[in-house]
Amino acid sequence: MSKIVAFEEAGPIGVIRLDNPPVNAINHAVRAGLADAVTLAANRPDIEVLLITSAGNLFSAGADVTEFDRPMQDPTQQMVEDRLERARVPVVAAIHGMALGGGLELAMACHYRVAERNARLGLPEITLGIIPGAGGTQRLPRLIGARAAFDMILSGAPISARDAQLLGLVDEVVEGNLPEGAFQFCRRLIEDGLGPRPTSERTVQTHGFDEAGIAEALRAQSRALKGRTTQTFLLKAIEAARLPFSEGVAVESQLAQQSLATPESQALRHVFFAERECGKVKGITQPTESREIKRVAIIGAGTMGSGIAIAFADAAREVILIDNAEAALARGRGAIQTIYASAIKRGRVTQEMADERMSRIKGSLALADAADADLVIEAVFEDMDLKKQVLSTVDSILPPERLIASNTSTLSVTELGRSTAHPDRVSGLHFFAPAQVTKLLEIVRGAGTSPEALATALKVAKLLKKIPVVAADAFGFIGNRMMLDGYFREAELLLLEGASPMQVDMALEAFGFAMGPQRVSDLSGIDVGTKARIQLFQRESRPDPYFVIADHLTELGRLGQKTGRGFYRYETGGREALPDPEVTKLIEALSAERAIRRREISDQEIVERCILALINVGAMVLDEAIAARASDIDVVWTSGYGFPRHLGGPMFYADALGLGRVAERIRHYHEKLGYYWRPAPFIERLAAERSSFTQWDHRG
Ligand SMILES: NC(=O)c1ccc[n+]([C@@H]2O[C@H](COP(=O)([O-])OP(=O)(O)OC[C@H]3O[C@@H](n4cnc5c(N)ncnc54)[C@H](O)[C@@H]3O)[C@@H](O)[C@H]2O)c1
Repeated sequence: MSKIVAFEEAGPIGVIRLDNPPVNAINHAVRAGLADAVTLAANRPDIEVLLITSAGNLFSAGADVTEFDRPMQDPTQQMVEDRLERARVPVVAAIHGMALGGGLELAMACHYRVAERNARLGLPEITLGIIPGAGGTQRLPRLIGARAAFDMILSGAPISARDAQLLGLVDEVVEGNLPEGAFQFCRRLIEDGLGPRPTSERTVQTHGFDEAGIAEALRAQSRALKGRTTQTFLLKAIEAARLPFSEGVAVESQLAQQSLATPESQALRHVFFAERECGKVKGITQPTESREIKRVAIIGAGTMGSGIAIAFADAAREVILIDNAEAALARGRGAIQTIYASAIKRGRVTQEMADERMSRIKGSLALADAADADLVIEAVFEDMDLKKQVLSTVDSILPPERLIASNTSTLSVTELGRSTAHPDRVSGLHFFAPAQVTKLLEIVRGAGTSPEALATALKVAKLLKKIPVVAADAFGFIGNRMMLDGYFREAELLLLEGASPMQVDMALEAFGFAMGPQRVSDLSGIDVGTKARIQLFQRESRPDPYFVIADHLTELGRLGQKTGRGFYRYETGGREALPDPEVTKLIEALSAERAIRRREISDQEIVERCILALINVGAMVLDEAIAARASDIDVVWTSGYGFPRHLGGPMFYADALGLGRVAERIRHYHEKLGYYWRPAPFIERLAAERSSFTQWDHRG
């Protein structure tokens, strides 16, 4: 028998134990091991009950995703489940930590389930664009009813052990020690003479799973499911749960295969793997030997500083938040309190948790208080001289092996590092607002940044449960370079050529972005972009027309929602973007000054130009080695800039379009529109080789 599934007898209880670190993924070896263990148990007449448990932190995170693209080798999970269900003795699953996907499907094929109080159970397959394919869509409705099953699989979110018990998914919640509780449960089954109870033999309760109920369930997830199709496969599968079990699983199996083959699933799985890959950096060994981070000093208690402070306090770290202005520090504290108050209101944290976290954040007006921090993050105004001064002071008081990071979004990290005596320990940690929420963390590697500093920065990302992408120190790093030179710039050009802000936004929202570019600018403040570009132009300039509309709006004090006017106008206190004829006039005047002919523009052209511009600049970013992998760029755009995840990110999307076609369209626009459309030589090269960004990433 394989080592990763062990079998032992504890009196009348046969214990099958999975041990496949790190997450007890159910791969071929586990399935084979389980099948062997069941055979072994069947040959032991003294065994009266079988208990399935696992080692490590969780029961099982599900099937091994790396096996998804290959035909499943026997025994399949269904075969193993079938054998468990037909066992002559009752089978019990003991769940701790998490039972997700295939892990929960396995547990549902057992006759009984007990769970530790903190355990969570879920079927998150929809986040990968697939439906459960090992009986999940057939057994869950039999256990908790069709409607609740539809809701749970549709959301993909795990539920607590308590909720699982209320629904009927779990038979008993164990308050104390799980193995002990599970053994007691097994002994009770024996004493009470309770035998096997196959889930497949139950009937499905369908109350609430009618047209109205289904519509309601879909509405509740409409934001997450925008542009998606997996839900239609799921609906059919749950409907099939009304059939006899063997027919239902056959339908499920077919639908699961179909969902796996959709472009949507390929894209979602690409992003899933890309997010795992991006933390790995060539030449940087896993940051195990890097310094433990217990205490963090954050300098600047503004928007970003307060958000970063919360991110660290949430990760149970001590924070010292330093500002040089008393009023600013008080404002920062106020902002932190407001954010926690709203988290309590939304049920994300309890009052006690919030109090504890807030107590970890201490304020100070003295830079000297940064001296005993393990890590210092600077988030003062975006001003090179000011930042240099702050960093060199920090450098002079902080022991030299500790990391110093800047949250700059535009300035040269290399130059900032050179203002200190230890450029090797200086890197950029580019958080995105709101810093306590946004998953993306761009780690900027200055020319002097040492591998150790980079390793520590990667460790910081892990600590904060953020997704790190390493960028070289260049104009706009990865995300802002592509946004400014590609996406948003093209969106502005389309306005100059005759499209309205509303048309551009709606076209891109229909493509899948959560919010169109002009609405994003109005929300984040148009002046923020203008100021950033002033800084960036000190690195490199850009020829006109480059954000002429936005810069004029800033000049006019039309800064977006915060002033009630920007690309749109807003009723007092309102958030609804309303068209403004004044903006139209401004845009028309700017077009006329540049002799740009205004015309009707189709939504299709808007989307094509904005996305191709993004792809073209993305290819330049790769060619200039600002990003190491195309998939890193996809992570930046899906986790930080609202690019629809189900399209896989701009570079994956380019591959799906075919680079030959992409190159041809870029050349077409270059002829028409000039400079900003100069084709990235890298795309031309890959297209000529009939290759793709994905292939380039996997070039070994
Ligand atoms: N706002 C964003 O969306 C965003 C996103 C990413 C990165 N950034 C970057 O983060 C940094 C901070 O931005 P912000 O929006 O939080 O700015 P902010 O204006 O809200 O806050 C800056 C804070 O720094 C303080 N400060 C100024 N000089 C100081 C000094 N010498 N010592 C201590 N504190 C000092 C100010 O009092 C203020 O509280 C900038 O570098 C910015 O480019 C901002």
